[in-house]
Amino acid sequence: MSWNLEDAGSQDGRVAIVTGANAGLGLETARALAESGCEVILACRNADKAAAAREQIIRRQPGARLACMTLDLSRLVSVSDFAQKFKRRYQRLDLLINNAGIMMPPFALSEDGFESQLATNYLGHFALTGRLLPRLLATSESRVVSVSSLAHRWSPIRLEDPHFANGYDARLAYGQSKLACLMFAYELDRRLCDGGHRTLSVAAHPGVSVTNLADHFPLANALFKTAARLVLQSAAAGAQPLLYAALAAEVEGGDYCGPLWLNQWRGPPGKVGSNRRSKDPAVAAQLWSLSEQATGVSYLS
Ligand SMILES: NC(=O)c1ccc[n+]([C@@H]2O[C@H](COP(=O)([O-])OP(=O)(O)OC[C@H]3O[C@@H](n4cnc5c(N)ncnc54)[C@H](OP(=O)(O)O)[C@@H]3O)[C@@H](O)[C@H]2O)c1
Repeated sequence: MSWNLEDAGSQDGRVAIVTGANAGLGLETARALAESGCEVILACRNADKAAAAREQIIRRQPGARLACMTLDLSRLVSVSDFAQKFKRRYQRLDLLINNAGIMMPPFALSEDGFESQLATNYLGHFALTGRLLPRLLATSESRVVSVSSLAHRWSPIRLEDPHFANGYDARLAYGQSKLACLMFAYELDRRLCDGGHRTLSVAAHPGVSVTNLADHFPLANALFKTAARLVLQSAAAGAQPLLYAALAAEVEGGDYCGPLWLNQWRGPPGKVGSNRRSKDPAVAAQLWSLSEQATGVSYLS
């Protein structure tokens, strides 16, 4: 029997943040967490989209406890503002779902000077996790879920040129950012364990799911969505591994969760493997230092 939300039981009284909660996997994850009783903070860059998502969830679940807070992960100043406001309002944080992401846009540097996919998908979440860590550590059974991808296999961590100063390849940059999310999850778990902390760091990926992620390339996007509708999974199904990582009792720190069928493209959620490169602790430590230097946020060092 595959895991489902009911197995986790009521989450009443718990507080969750879902980044990128206005669409796709984030919206489905937020919806399910709210259904299970969590108070969910929809952490989104666009306030109107966040409000629309909140309305959409509340129409189906009138009792859902949802708050919208603005967060643009590609801007360190926004990450810091968000964390400050959150910590003022909430004394606990049970679940941090680092989900927001972009895929293969044209080359751009963020205002902080980072390649845009590394900025949004990874460095913003690195800074966010560090800034929220006091609340996570103070909450029993808290978890951080980092959303990676099968695309973690597409690139190494380019320690010498992480921001593609010497020529941009959108696919490599996406792969690097998703490998960084995965290595971060593993390294965060090691550092939490070394510090004797009980917060779990877990990674997850959704297989291949129909969302807005491929919107940067209209033709590929149309083909992708058609193919995906025929053979791949819905956003609601893609959210299952994220929910499993966040809530399943059998999940441990350092686990990687994804769909179990068709080479992890689809299927019920469970524990999955990642490539050898993702498990290199020396590169993970270098990535951590690079991230601390880039973001100015240091923790568990
Ligand atoms: N779909 C898949 O098959 C698949 C496969 C592997 C991994 N993933 C990962 O799953 C995650 C969710 O993607 P999705 O498929 O659900 O895509 P999506 O439908 O495009 O949703 C992405 C979400 O991230 C938000 N976002 C983008 N840039 C942001 C920023 N700077 N600050 C805050 N939020 C931002 C988007 O907000 P806006 O609406 O404002 O753009 C949206 O809410 C991503 O990390 C992606 O890499 C997806």
